[in-house]
Amino acid sequence: MPEASVAARGLGRAVIFLGPPGAGKGTQARQIAETYGVPHLSTGDMFREHVGRGTALGLRAKPIMERGELVPDDLVLSMIEDRISRPDCNEGFILDGFPRTLPQAGALDEILRRRFETEPLVVHFVVDQNQLMRRLTGRRTCKIGGEIYNVYDHPPKVPGRCDRDGGELVQRPDDREDVITERLTAYERQTRPLVDYYRSRGVLKDVNGMASPEAVTKSVLELLGQK
Ligand code: AP5
Repeated sequence: MPEASVAARGLGRAVIFLGPPGAGKGTQARQIAETYGVPHLSTGDMFREHVGRGTALGLRAKPIMERGELVPDDLVLSMIEDRISRPDCNEGFILDGFPRTLPQAGALDEILRRRFETEPLVVHFVVDQNQLMRRLTGRRTCKIGGEIYNVYDHPPKVPGRCDRDGGELVQRPDDREDVITERLTAYERQTRPLVDYYRSRGVLKDVNGMASPEAVTKSVLELLGQK
């Protein structure tokens, strides 16, 4: 195959980032999507955008997200199916936070079968449970570009301001300890079964999410076939 830039190649398939809240899915998805020039589809970001705009979907999702529960499958599916059907997803895309239930995974299988010849790749971020609370309570996100920081482990150069664009750094309303506990419970009950679902099909690869963000990125790039 002739040398081509990674961005020009795209991914040629869907890549699913799977792991508990705080595992580093968003941090890695931003980086890898930029490297490959493909869309980063975060259902959490999509819902937060709807909440921010006060749409009908946002009004329904807001109280559910504030409790740390999952939004009903039918609402998630219509939103993501619409997004995946856009032409910018033709060369592949990264799914961050979707699917999260077995019915969502089954529906995604149907969508992907119509779209790609290649099976999806599922990257499973493995992180110690006791690390997740620290990561989530310390997370701050740029209001403008969505860049992700951590007040403990990855602070910005100027407190409260994004290194990239100077935007204000804010804490997500669901990053409160009591809500985080609910989100972790929802993960164990509703999302963890997807690990076996994909592993039994041979499409899931584990990545050590406890390593530094740079080392995790390197591992993911290796899985995707680029050293
Ligand atoms: P969503 O936004 O998807 O949140 P989540 O899955 O809970 O995941 P997070 O964004 O909290 O964590 P992350 O793994 O992306 O970690 P990050 O990279 O930011 O969902 C929010 C809500 O929306 C849900 O609760 C639900 O209500 C609803 N929703 C969304 N999708 C849904 C669906 N499909 N079905 C139903 N409902 C849905 O990193 C976290 C922190 O750790 C950061 O501070 C970061 O700097 C730090 N960090 C990252 N990597 C490392 C590292 N390697 N070492 C040290 N620190 C690190």
